[in-house]
Amino acid sequence: MIAPSILSADFAHLADEADAVAGAEWLHVDVMDAHFVPNLTLGLPVVESLLKATDIPLDCHLMIENPGRWAPPYAEAGAHNVTFHAEATDDPRAVARDIRAAGGKAGLSVKPGTPIEPYLEILRDFDTLLIMSVEPGFGGQSFIPDVLGKARLIRRLVDSGDLTLLVEIDGGINADTIEAAAEAGVDCFVAGSAVYGAQDPAAAVQALRDQAGKASPHLTPAH
Ligand code: DX5
Ligand code: ZN
Repeated sequence: MIAPSILSADFAHLADEADAVAGAEWLHVDVMDAHFVPNLTLGLPVVESLLKATDIPLDCHLMIENPGRWAPPYAEAGAHNVTFHAEATDDPRAVARDIRAAGGKAGLSVKPGTPIEPYLEILRDFDTLLIMSVEPGFGGQSFIPDVLGKARLIRRLVDSGDLTLLVEIDGGINADTIEAAAEAGVDCFVAGSAVYGAQDPAAAVQALRDQAGKASPHLTPAH
């Protein structure tokens, strides 16, 4: 699965930019609050408008403080996935419960330096794990291969039936890096600059999907 990140799209033409990747499984929407990360992007009003402008399920990645207060409204609005950061709350379980109660899929995201072991138990309460392969905040950064150990660990737990979870990766995914991520067992690949920086974004999505599919050791059912 490929989730183009509109962080690299033209913010004045988001409906057209969504149409440009019509075959994508999810559309990745980076919400940044200039507190959890040193950048500011968009919030709920833009997501509400985008929901009316596209049929692609929205994959909202909240890089914000206080997700307990701000995350559930994205699910209420109709976002498919609502993913928040483990580092941003003391009670990720409660936030996941509220997202699910509001009708969304709950995602937990971890920065490159955050270990996954302390969260293994609570991952049962989540639908997606979003592994950051760059420091969150900006598009166009270089992939950090060290994070793939987390993907391998979670893939093992999923394949052995101990967990039911989609593994997603975000940051620096392009034709040079996607195969290593696929080999590590990633299900869903976020790509910003590699898609919207291409001449033909839809063709870039298809090329990345083909590349990942060939390198992937397992077949993932569509979600
Ligand atoms: C970074 C964002 C990413 C970003 C990825 O904080 O979470 O989703 O758009 O951009 P690329 O694919 O260019 O690294
Ligand atoms: Zn993101």
